[in-house]
Amino acid sequence: MSHPLQYAPVLVIGAGIMGSGIAQTAAQAGHPVFLYDAREGAAVESRTKLATTLNGLVAKGRLEAAAAEAAIARITPINTLTDAATARLAIEAIVELLEPKRELFRQLEAILADDAVLGTNTSSISVTAIAAGLKHPGRLAGMHFFNPVALMKLVEVVSGLQTDPQVAASLFDLAALWGKVPVHAKSTPGFVVNRIARPFYAEALALLQEQAAAPEVLDACLKAAGFRMGPCELMDLIGHDTNLAVTRSVFEANFFDKRYQPSVVQSEMVAGGLLGRKSGRGFYSYPQGAAALPAADRSPPDRAVTITLHGQGALADALGEAAARVLGANGTPLARDMSSDPTSHWIGLEIDGARLVLTQGLAAWDLAARSGVTDTAVFDRPLRLPLQPGQVIAYSVNAAASATWQAQAGAWLQALGFAPQRVSDAPGLVVARTVAMLINEAADAVLQGVCTTAGADSACKLGVNYPAGPFEWLREWSVPGVIAVLESLDSAYRGERYRVSPWLRRGIAS
Ligand code: NAI
Repeated sequence: MSHPLQYAPVLVIGAGIMGSGIAQTAAQAGHPVFLYDAREGAAVESRTKLATTLNGLVAKGRLEAAAAEAAIARITPINTLTDAATARLAIEAIVELLEPKRELFRQLEAILADDAVLGTNTSSISVTAIAAGLKHPGRLAGMHFFNPVALMKLVEVVSGLQTDPQVAASLFDLAALWGKVPVHAKSTPGFVVNRIARPFYAEALALLQEQAAAPEVLDACLKAAGFRMGPCELMDLIGHDTNLAVTRSVFEANFFDKRYQPSVVQSEMVAGGLLGRKSGRGFYSYPQGAAALPAADRSPPDRAVTITLHGQGALADALGEAAARVLGANGTPLARDMSSDPTSHWIGLEIDGARLVLTQGLAAWDLAARSGVTDTAVFDRPLRLPLQPGQVIAYSVNAAASATWQAQAGAWLQALGFAPQRVSDAPGLVVARTVAMLINEAADAVLQGVCTTAGADSACKLGVNYPAGPFEWLREWSVPGVIAVLESLDSAYRGERYRVSPWLRRGIAS
């Protein structure tokens, strides 16, 4: 069955970055598009720029000339909103302020048919608030596109308290017809992506604040885990002013829940004008970008007498294979601890009594104190299996460990095939901590009915290019494993940031 809005006239209000992209997308999907902007000439300029963009695609052989011509011809810049009275759908992408958006929709209600659908591209304002006071608030929903609209597949279809579910369903299906991947979201601060992504930045900023590692080390660790960009280079790209503004808005809209508290590391950078790429300096200086990682010049580890592999599961197996390769070369046999003793439920290697332990959240000093093994080091979670040769991995060593183990822990990680980067003894290190927090935030979003687990996964992969969705990571990891990291963080730092989502605890029970 065809969609009632397919090929129907669309009105786009605001011909800036987003409005232009939305107009292009709708026109390419076959809709006649009216384009309006309060600034005189802006709509015409936008159409001219779109023509250049589309003709550029034709020149590169990525679009048929006839398709480009037809799309451009479908866009009509208009000077007064009344010229768009026949529009069946109006999408606004004007200034990000509540009052102008409300005023615009009040005007549109007087111009458009009673059953025309209203969409807002707001990225941070409550959709419920925008619809308040309309004659028919049920026909307004968020249609949150991502920048650049033509390339980003994700559209969050945001329902406010009064949004008619049929309207949300209709916009969802329309976005799919436009070649997008829509995700339903409830109108809550940050919607899906801008909310779930907060810890990606926040954990890096927290680690920087306690001088755990340099920005380039944090970036390298997360990129090794599969993220396209590290958090520091990404904040530099987005702009610290913009990134801080989003964090602030989510924090304030959640009544100053400490979970979302902005970082003084970032506010200080903004105050000093270190905004990132656009100002020439953020964490890095541009155009150079990130500094090279400190070179690791380690000799091979000393020959060990006894080595035991601890733990079970795919990660333990992968570690065992890597260890067997090293040991095969020097002739030491690898024993495997298959004990069902719960106190030995850790993954890692015991090398002549010293321990190299996959992080479960506890800092190395804490683990050493609990086990009584002073020579303890912890290493970060490799997110991807099979292990990638040369993969950067963070590790830390108990400060009270012997001088020998201080040097040997890194040498062993290197021999196992990693590119180890020593960081300070922070609980949960870098990747485990960040990913556990992303999962936790996604779990809370699901608990609160903001999105489904599948919606959260799509949103993270398509809206912020994560290598996998939070619930995909959770399936690979385990609910108790994630909770263990969060609880270690919670007990190390106290406060609200690391409180465990009740959704995760229910996961254990089910
Ligand atoms: P922009 O500044 O590039 O464009 C806004 C346009 O709206 C300007 O051309 C301006 O003249 C026009 N305008 C302002 N007030 C108006 C009014 N009352 N009536 C008609 N036209 C008006 O801004 P951008 O980046 O395109 O953002 C627009 C909306 O999209 C905002 O709500 C923003 O939060 C949202 N958004 C922005 C994203 C981004 O990455 N830039 C991503 C997703 C959403």
